[in-house]
Amino acid sequence: MRPFISLKSIEERINGKGLEIDAVPLAQILDLDKTPVYVTSLNAVSQRLNKYKEALSIHFKQNEIFYAMKANFAAPILNTVSKENFGIDIVSIGEWRKALASGIHPNKVCFAGVGKKESEWKEAILGGLGNLSVEHLTELTEILDFLSEEKKLNSIAQKKLVVSLRLNPAVEVDTHPHLKTGALNSKFGVLFEHFCNWLNAKKMQFKNEELFLNWINPLKGIHVHIGSQLTENSIFPLVARKVLDCAQFMFENKIFVQHIDFGGGLGVGQNGVPENGEDIFSHVHFVCNAFKQESKKYPKLLSIWNDDFSNLFVCMEPGRSIVASSTIFLTKVLYEKRNSVENIFCYVDGAMNDFPRPSIYGAVHHAELVNYDNMNLSKNDLNIFSWNIVGPVCESGDFLAKNALLPQIHKGDVIAFFEAGAYCRSMASQYNLRELPSEIFVRDGNITDIF
Ligand code: LLP
Repeated sequence: MRPFISLKSIEERINGKGLEIDAVPLAQILDLDKTPVYVTSLNAVSQRLNKYKEALSIHFKQNEIFYAMKANFAAPILNTVSKENFGIDIVSIGEWRKALASGIHPNKVCFAGVGKKESEWKEAILGGLGNLSVEHLTELTEILDFLSEEKKLNSIAQKKLVVSLRLNPAVEVDTHPHLKTGALNSKFGVLFEHFCNWLNAKKMQFKNEELFLNWINPLKGIHVHIGSQLTENSIFPLVARKVLDCAQFMFENKIFVQHIDFGGGLGVGQNGVPENGEDIFSHVHFVCNAFKQESKKYPKLLSIWNDDFSNLFVCMEPGRSIVASSTIFLTKVLYEKRNSVENIFCYVDGAMNDFPRPSIYGAVHHAELVNYDNMNLSKNDLNIFSWNIVGPVCESGDFLAKNALLPQIHKGDVIAFFEAGAYCRSMASQYNLRELPSEIFVRDGNITDIF
């Protein structure tokens, strides 16, 4: 299922009548002659954002959803995020600048990212950044040193800044190896024992407790993000315990955690997402309930957060689950070729650099033939074949689908790939000096933007 996308029966897929997205008929999109093109329903994006907010607000009065813009940084999406007053999760100074240009308040930005440059975090901090997630203890030391200097200089910026420790909880999750971010072999975050050693050493170095507490004061949060495209969340009670152990250790050192960020990660399957956002609700409820349940074992922490957690700010940073199913990728058939019965190829005008997830991660995106160019189909044309859908790039890794089950394909037909909103256009490149794919945004029956 895909909210705001309706796919018609196979017999209807002629003359652009095969699909509607946010009440815009495919015909209107094909008339623009923009393939390969991404088409996005902005209502679908809004609906999913609001589901997150609704679900998280049930559990925590103080909360924020930071949309992870790495999933899709198209201006109409960021404008939607901004207009609806959501926050943004960024990982580079380029994303910071783009978020601000889209009207996001700096205080509603969360800057995570492994290997930030000093110039990057300084620019963001001085620009009024609200939340900074630190992934290395040297980075943490440098940032705290900088903030204490700035304090002396009476700068305004750092006053509202919350610095969080990105904890590496050293847990394994079931996803593509490139998408795991919370395991022992992961480059992300800081291990608990490393943080403990660092803190003890820093205390010794400062000698004077008041000076130390003053220096460490901006550190008020803990952040975890264990991976992306997670299809089950049974690891979360353990992750919650690791976060709570860290918060408890901080408490014992007079550092009072006020901010917890559970990251993103909710996966999206090949069939899309439920119309009513049920997947978001159950994920958020599971994570929050696991955390609340585990918190009962930490009375000291509850004494600062209150039993109803009204003194704790909780946030999440979803990317994929907001945008994946809002978007289709449309590509036009150029021709076909049959090397053998098993090896049949459909050449399209989109390539691995336009739609990279299949070639990079072996990801499977559901494909449908959504417009027949030839209206006089014979019965045989509806037989199903196993197609390798390939693009014009000069390498064999250039495929959009392997063994996609589709009927006979003809030149000029249009194929749609679904769940194309996350990490597709944002990862597109100009390899082979191809132009970047076009983008069309729609809402309430209107095309709002064309790029
Ligand atoms: N927060 C942090 C710190 C992250 O690293 C990520 C994703 C997110 C939030 C958002 O995660 P999501 O809700 O989207 O799963 N290119 C890959 C995905 C890389 C994800 C990187 N980090 C793909 O195409 O599957």
